Amino acid sequence: MQFQLSEEQLMIQQAARDFARQQCLPGVIERDEKQQFPKEQVLQLADLGFMGMMVDPAYGGAGLDTVSYVLAMEEISKVDASTSVCMSVNNSLVCYGLQEFGTEEQKQQYLTPLARGKKDNELYIGAFMLSEPEAGSDATSQRTTAEDMGDYYLLNGTKNWITNGGTASVYLVMAQTDPAKGSKGINCLIVEKSWPGVVVAAKENKMGIRASDTHTVMFNDVKVPKKNRVGADGFGFTFAMKTLAGGRIGIAAQALGIASGSLEFSTQYAKTRKAFGTEIMNHQIIAFKLADMATRVDAARLLCLKSAWQKDNGMDYTISSSMAKVFSSETAMWASTEAVQIHGGYGYVKEYHVERLMRDAKITQIYEGTSEVQRIVISRGILK
Ligand code: CAA
Repeated sequence: MQFQLSEEQLMIQQAARDFARQQCLPGVIERDEKQQFPKEQVLQLADLGFMGMMVDPAYGGAGLDTVSYVLAMEEISKVDASTSVCMSVNNSLVCYGLQEFGTEEQKQQYLTPLARGKKDNELYIGAFMLSEPEAGSDATSQRTTAEDMGDYYLLNGTKNWITNGGTASVYLVMAQTDPAKGSKGINCLIVEKSWPGVVVAAKENKMGIRASDTHTVMFNDVKVPKKNRVGADGFGFTFAMKTLAGGRIGIAAQALGIASGSLEFSTQYAKTRKAFGTEIMNHQIIAFKLADMATRVDAARLLCLKSAWQKDNGMDYTISSSMAKVFSSETAMWASTEAVQIHGGYGYVKEYHVERLMRDAKITQIYEGTSEVQRIVISRGILK
């Protein structure tokens, strides 16, 4: 066993760190306040090859490993979790699914520009649509229907809390074709936002990751060609579960970044802020908080990297990605709350960043499977 990163992985980590500090940090408070989508930052991520990091270069990707993806997600999430969730959904829920299960035609037509993050020099990203008003954790209860009409599906229904819902050009939509078959009757369809019958509702006004683009999207009699189904008839639920297993590594890494960002901001503050005649780092109660944060951040990082390494080595990572997600997201929530405490009154106002990290942390315990769902996946896995 060795814990050393390769030269290439270190380069990716440094590139992501520089990008986050130079391009994301300036303006991050304003974008959060105004709920302004970080379009410029996402276009820069596309130029860095970070929108399709693990996709084969033959399909427009960077051909990197999942470990590099975790390193990049951590660095960007330290300062801007709104930008990193956009990157994560495109990489692990959209590009991964198409690369793994798409047809050659789907890869040429959709995966290639999605992995580049651009088409005709314009932003071109994807969204993943599983959640519905009455199907969040209980994902098999899909009400959206994809009626088989011969050479096309007729798509009707509503999808909720969709990351990239307004900015994405392409949607991967889970829909029920044969309700009698339950989870085996669900299909995944590639839908273009510009098609007749697709309606994007207003942007959600969220607690955290406010600059990310979250919408309800409705489908009214949308005609989807059969060639746009991903995988065999009825493969949609398995597709969603397999894709989410990898997605959870991305969100775990996002949570890790929020936690390690909380530690970095707090460490800098503790070295400069004085109280009772000395820098607050010299008070044991603060130093021990930092020690506990550093220990839990490192444990979260090891879980994330182990799961990524298992994925890169063709091993089963279903349990490890859920472990990484539940532990990292709970660490993010705890560490960002400690960061606000260490900053005192300054932590409660926006200029010091940690109140945003605390608000951003919460969603990592909810999306791509709540902490409760991760515990279902882990317990079923270990008890099998
Ligand atoms: N790989 C392959 N197949 C899988 C699988 C996996 N990881 N997990 C389940 N399946 C299969 C099962 O084997 C089962 O098949 P059989 O009937 O042949 O045995 C079938 O799928 C149904 O599975 P379950 O019986 O386990 O289904 P369940 O109703 O008990 O639900 C669950 C399981 C784990 C709770 C699942 O519903 C789940 O993961 N829910 C959470 C959904 C989620 O993560 N949503 C996030 C939305 S996306 C998002 O947030 C993106 C964003 O914008 C950031």
